[in-house]
Order: sequence, then C-alpha cells, then structure tokens
Amino acid sequence: MAKNQQKVLLPSHVKPIHYKIYLEPDLEAFVFKGEEEIEFVSDRKIVDLTLHSAEIEVTGAEIIGGKVSVSKISYNDRAETVTFKFKNPLPTGKSKIKISFAGILNDKMRGFYRSRYKHDGQEYHMGVTQFESTDARRAFPCFDEPSQKATFDLSLKVPSDRTVISNTLEKEVIEHEGGFKIVQFEKSPLMSSYLLAFIVGHFEHIEETTPEGVRVRVYVTPGKKKQAKFALKTASRIMSFYHNYFGISYPLPTMDLIAIPDFANGAMENWGAVTYRETALLVDEEHTSLHSKQWVALIIAHELAHQWFGNLVTMKWWTHLWLNEGFASFMEYIAIDKLFPEWHVWTQFVYTEQAKALSLDGMSNTHPIEIPVHHPGEISEIFDAVSYSKGASVIRMIEAYIGEKDFQKGLQLYLKTHKFSNAETEDLWRALEKVSKKPVGRIMKNWTSKGGYPLVSLKRTSKGLEFSQKRYFSTKSLKKDSTVWSIPMSVLDDNKTVFTLLIDKRRSALNDFSKSSWIKLNVNDTSFVRIKYPEKELVALMDPIKKQIISEEGRFAIVRDAFSLAESEDSSLVDALEILKAFENEESYIVWSEIILHLLELKSLLSGTALEDKFKDFAGNIVKNIADKSGWSKKKNESHEQTLLRSSAKFAHGTFGDKDTLDHAKKLFSFYEKGGRLPSDFRGAVFSLVAENGGAKEFKKFEKIYMNSELEEEKDRALRALCSFKDHQLLLKTLELSFSSKVRAQDAFKAVYIMSTNPFGIDIAWDYVKGHWGEIKEKFAGGHLFSRFISPFSKFKSKEKADEVEEFFKKNKAEGIGRTVAQTVEKIRANDSLILREYENLANFLKH
Ligand code: BES
Ligand code: ZN
Repeated sequence: MAKNQQKVLLPSHVKPIHYKIYLEPDLEAFVFKGEEEIEFVSDRKIVDLTLHSAEIEVTGAEIIGGKVSVSKISYNDRAETVTFKFKNPLPTGKSKIKISFAGILNDKMRGFYRSRYKHDGQEYHMGVTQFESTDARRAFPCFDEPSQKATFDLSLKVPSDRTVISNTLEKEVIEHEGGFKIVQFEKSPLMSSYLLAFIVGHFEHIEETTPEGVRVRVYVTPGKKKQAKFALKTASRIMSFYHNYFGISYPLPTMDLIAIPDFANGAMENWGAVTYRETALLVDEEHTSLHSKQWVALIIAHELAHQWFGNLVTMKWWTHLWLNEGFASFMEYIAIDKLFPEWHVWTQFVYTEQAKALSLDGMSNTHPIEIPVHHPGEISEIFDAVSYSKGASVIRMIEAYIGEKDFQKGLQLYLKTHKFSNAETEDLWRALEKVSKKPVGRIMKNWTSKGGYPLVSLKRTSKGLEFSQKRYFSTKSLKKDSTVWSIPMSVLDDNKTVFTLLIDKRRSALNDFSKSSWIKLNVNDTSFVRIKYPEKELVALMDPIKKQIISEEGRFAIVRDAFSLAESEDSSLVDALEILKAFENEESYIVWSEIILHLLELKSLLSGTALEDKFKDFAGNIVKNIADKSGWSKKKNESHEQTLLRSSAKFAHGTFGDKDTLDHAKKLFSFYEKGGRLPSDFRGAVFSLVAENGGAKEFKKFEKIYMNSELEEEKDRALRALCSFKDHQLLLKTLELSFSSKVRAQDAFKAVYIMSTNPFGIDIAWDYVKGHWGEIKEKFAGGHLFSRFISPFSKFKSKEKADEVEEFFKKNKAEGIGRTVAQTVEKIRANDSLILREYENLANFLKH
C-alpha cells in the first residue's frame, strides 16, 4: 500500500458494527449538536481509537460499560480525524463509545448543510446532507470509508411543522416541548457512511406503490407538487424494471426522491433517499423542454441503478469508483430504452457519453479508469468523463461482446455474491466470465488499468484486411505508449457480412474482404476506439453514407473521427470539412449534433481572424438544409429526435448569421414577452440568438425573466442568454449577478462556463475568475464544483493564454484541481497549434 494512502485509511483492525445517532440542528443559527453511540469490534487490544471527523468539535467521549476511560481527545486536520486515547487498553472484541459533538450547518453544499427556500412568503433554511465522497465526517465522527459498512439508527429533533426524510421509514415521532418533535427512523441496512442522508424542511410529496410493494415518494418544497408527477411515474416504473433486471428485490420499503434548492451535483444516490438538483427532477409540462425531460429520466435511472450497484454492492475503495459511476451511467440507458423505446437513447449514447470520453481520454493528461487515490482532494477529481463515460463505454463494449443475456446473468451473479458487501473491478469480470465463458478479465485489463485507447488503422491488401493499433493522442505527444488493447471489432462490407473479431496484437489480419467495394469497421461504434481509414477507403465510404446503408452510429463516428484525426495530425481539417459533403441528406440527430459541435468549435477558433465571416457563411450553408427542414414548429407525428434537433439546428443557423433565422427569433421573442406561447423545446435557442444580437434593452428583459421565474430551467435559459451578449459592460454585469446572492452558489459556475464559449466573453470571465479567486476557493475548494471554474478556459486559443493560465495556477495552488489545470492548458496549446497548422489550408478551402 502506498505510503500516502496509509495516512488516510483508518487502521483496519477496528470495524464499526452499529451507530446510534441523535442530532439537533438549529435551522436559524446554522449549527447542530449531536450525540452518538458507536458499537465497534477490534481484533486486538487497543489503546486508542481514531475516527474520521472534520470541522466538528467533540465535546465529550466515554466508553460505555467496562472500566476504560478516555484520557485525551486530539485532532488531525490534514487527515480529517479525531483520536481518543484510553487510560488503559480496551480489550479485544466488541466495545461501545459514546461521543457528544457540535458542528456548523454550512453553506458549502457538503456534509450537513443548509439550503434556502421560500414558504408562505417567508424565507427558511432546510438542513440537507451530501456525504459522498468523504463528507459524512462533517456531520458526525465515523469510519468514513466505503468498506466500513455498518447499520444506523438515526433520530433528529426538529421543529414540529417540518418534515424529516432519511434512508428508512419513520419508526416513532415523539412530541417535544417548545414546538419540537423527535423523529426516530428504522434501523438501516448494512451500508457505507457516504450513503446516509437526512433532510429537514417544509416539504410536500406525492407517492405511489410499485407492483412489488415499494412505496415511491417524490418530495418538493411547497408549491411544486405538480412538477413532481413525471419523476414519480418514471421512478416507480424504473424500480420495477430493476427489480426484474437485477433479479434482487429492493431491500427497503420506500424509495424517496427529493428536490433540493441548493445542490452541488446533479443528484446523489443515498440509499432510499435520493437527492436531486431541481432541474434534474422537476418537469413542468408547459415549460420543460423535451431535452430536459429526457435528462430527468436518465438521471433518475442513474441514481436508482446505484440502489443496487453501489449501495447494495459497493466499491472497496475509491480507486474503483468507476464501478459505481461507469456502471450507473451505462444502466441508465438500459432502463430508459426499455421505458421510452421511441427516444432511442442508445443511439444518443455515442454522442452524449462515448464521444465525450474519447475526447477527454485522448489527452496526455488523462488517467486510467482505475487510479490510486488517497486524499479526499484527489478523490473528487476522478468524478469525470473517464470514470463515468469511458466506464459506461467499456461496459457497453463488453456487453456487445458477450451478449445481452449473459451480461445480465453475470450481473445478477455479481450482485448476489457481493450483496451488503464490497467488490472491486476483477469481481465483476469474474462473474461475467463465469457466465459467458469468455476471457472477459483478459480483454478488459488494459481498458481499465491504462489511460487512453487505440487508434485502429485499416489497410487493404490483396489477401484481405490488415489492422494495426497505436494509442491515440489528440496532440502529437512526446509520450510514447506501446500498450496493446484487446479490441472486439466488427466489420461490415457491401454484402452486409458482420464479423466480430478480437485484435490483440499490434497487427492482425482478416481474409475474405478482398472483394468488398467498401469496408466499415466498428459498425455501431460499440468499441471504444477511433478508426483511421486510408484515403481511398474513406472515399469509398461516401456512397454508403449517402445511402444510409451505414448505421446512424457508424455515420456519426466517421464525422467524429474525421475531426479528431485532424487534431492529432493524422489528417487535416479540410479533409474533415470535405467529408461533410456526404451528409447533405442527413437527418440524424446525433450526426447533426456532432457536425454542429465541430462547426461551432471552428467558429470560435476562427473568431477575430480574417476567416471568421467566410467560415460563418460556409457553416451556415452546411446547416441550412436541416435548419429549414426542421422549421419553427412541431410537425404532426415528428420523432423524439426531430424535436431535439430543431433547437440546435435553428441555433446554429442563426449564430452562423442567417438573417431570416435571426429575424424570426426576434419575432418569437417579442411574442413571448407579450404572453404568447414559445415552445420550451427551442425557447433557449431563441433566447440566446436574441441576446447574441441584442443590447442593453434586451439585457434588461432577460434579467427580468431570470429574477421573476420560479422554474430553475427557465432561469438557466435566461442566464445563458445573459452570457451571450457582445457588450463588455453587460457581460460584466452578468458575472456580478452570478456571484451575488441573487443567484444560488450552485449556479455560479454556469456563467463562467457559458461566457467562455462567447468570444466576446472569455477574457472578461477569466479576469473575473482571477480577480475573485479567493472567494471562489473559499466557497468551492474541496467540493465537486471547484474545477468547473477552471475547465471552461480550455476555450482559449493562444500560447500566451496557456502560459498565463498555467502561471496563475502555479501561484494559486489548491488541492484537487491539478489534473483539470493540466488538461485545460493542454487543450489551449492544442487549439493554438491547430490554428497555426491549418489556417492557410482553411483560407484556400474557404475561397471556393
Ligand atoms: N454519486 C453521484 C453523485 C456525486 C457526484 C457525488 C460527484 C459526489 C461527487 C451520482 O450518482 C451522480 O453520478 N450524479 C451525476 C448525475 C449523473 C446522471 C451523471 C451528477 O451529479 O452529475
Ligand atoms: Zn452516479
């Protein structure tokens, strides 16, 4: 074990058995008092006991029963622990310690914190918990490690008019004097500390019971019950689906979903009491876009998947975090595809998850899926697209390889074997291997233990096909990497013959393809690779692309890789843009999303150069067809994806300067202002287009929408617009607003993020962040939002900015942002060299 890790792990000879916790939050003074009894077992005599504890003052401690007394209490701030020294040794076996303590109900969205809401015209604060990864220790001293499972008995003293929600059902409510009550909860199952939750505030709820007998409830702050309906219905259907899919009953009687006004993440899977950001749970039929509704469904499915995968079976240590997150990110698509087959979420997967992961994992500053982590700061940094989206992608790859049936059976075996306990990556592979009889562990090894992924190159010879692989780096890196991956690979040609083979040598070959008129590898993009075709083969693919013989995912991957290969100098931007010609008649949502993404990126790279306008014309022409086809109103019987596409197609057309689109957006907006209907599906696009071309007058209007709207999603749209203006002063006002008390701290990073995509805003945002770094650090350091104030600046595109960003963070070091800074700087340098390399060619290309 690494030296560093030993320092933060508690001694393994002591284990918790049961916690009995009593808490008294003061929702006005923002402090809490507590008392706990921890039953634990030691396999040897001990002279002291160390527990995790942070920002907590221990006011008393005693060993219950026996003759041992506590002689000294000491803290270690860096290790976040408290140590109780005993006068004489505590005997081997079970013991019980009683601890009294006090803490603060903080405003940092971690540990036991406060969140602001309104009720009957008055402002209140609720008490909420967010413990993952290592913040249970901020609410009570404990063994705060995922493998230190125990049972919990919880009771809280709260004002009589408040609701208290926790992991289990209420056992007893005792009225107390002075308008208080004590709510006692049923004993929890054997679980990890990071999954405990308690929430105290004014709440309303709606509920229904699944056919399997689980009571599902959705809790919202007063007045929002109507917006909980979709979540309730979706959640209870998902619970039934998982019950059958995993073949294990949900072990608790209730499943609560709670919308919290101030929330750092999207959602948190606390066992039986999942907490959500409002935008991730609430759906308003009139004002929520289809895109958000789909997001709500996916995030519910994600958190409920954790109830089995994560809560019932938990990773041994944070190094295996990806088991939790990669798996839930995969499973959400399985569930939603079953519930809403017409949404085609699996098709969207390659765009929403896999492409994101390929992009992050193509950098030199990526990390393996499994990575040793020690200090809490390092843990928070791995909640990224590698753990989530690459994790989900490699699971999808192995599912495609062993087949859906064996995959499901393997999972069931894994869950049954490790329930109420912990597991690591190899345990999952072993279960899948046992069922499928395929060498899962061997295939998967390098996918999880090594960073990056292969670029597979194809060569056609007289005998057939030859494949070679080398690690893909988005910038020609000095790093050499000789990793060889085992790659399940499918091949399609004009006879539609599909093979699955495994490339596990640097070079391999396949006969029988000598007569094919074209070849497509990785047919539905199920393997986590990029493909490089020789020019001739790429040309041959244009016809089957046009005829859409190649699947949507396959066509998508060709666009995606064309641009990535230009980045890595395996090809050029002009080649990538040439390929777009084959997509004239394309209508696929994911293909267009990918094309638009790259066109927007190029627009921003070329902004301020002599090519800017020419490029906008070019890009406008490319999207014109699909934008016109989409139209401004929903067609009868249009598909889910057509609805999703309209907003990005119209936005792109407008932002590339199409006058008709801009005029129409203005008209729609003034109609909306006067109380007319503007469909939520593209309301955001209209807002942004109006703002991009607006001034002080429009600014006021969006400010008003932001301030007056009750729905967080509408606020988000208005904030996005407020970040899209061109005027320096207006953008500065937006930043000031975002960091004021008028905008919740959970949303402050959004302004920085959106403004960084605005060429007129990125410098202003950077100056603002630098100027307010002290405040940002004070509020967000150690939390999961911290790095989001940094990564947006990867949109910079000059060497000078790369140096500046690097320098700034050298001088302003903080725990848990090292990798983000390195990635940001790497990306800026890549942008710089991409423009330098490609500018002349692009200039020539755009002349025609
Ligand atoms: N376990 C996480 C929540 C979390 C994230 C806790 C980071 C601590 C640090 C939860 O299951 C999750 O993954 N939430 C995602 C949403 C999901 C649909 C990708 C989130 O909050 O972004
Ligand atoms: Zn998760």
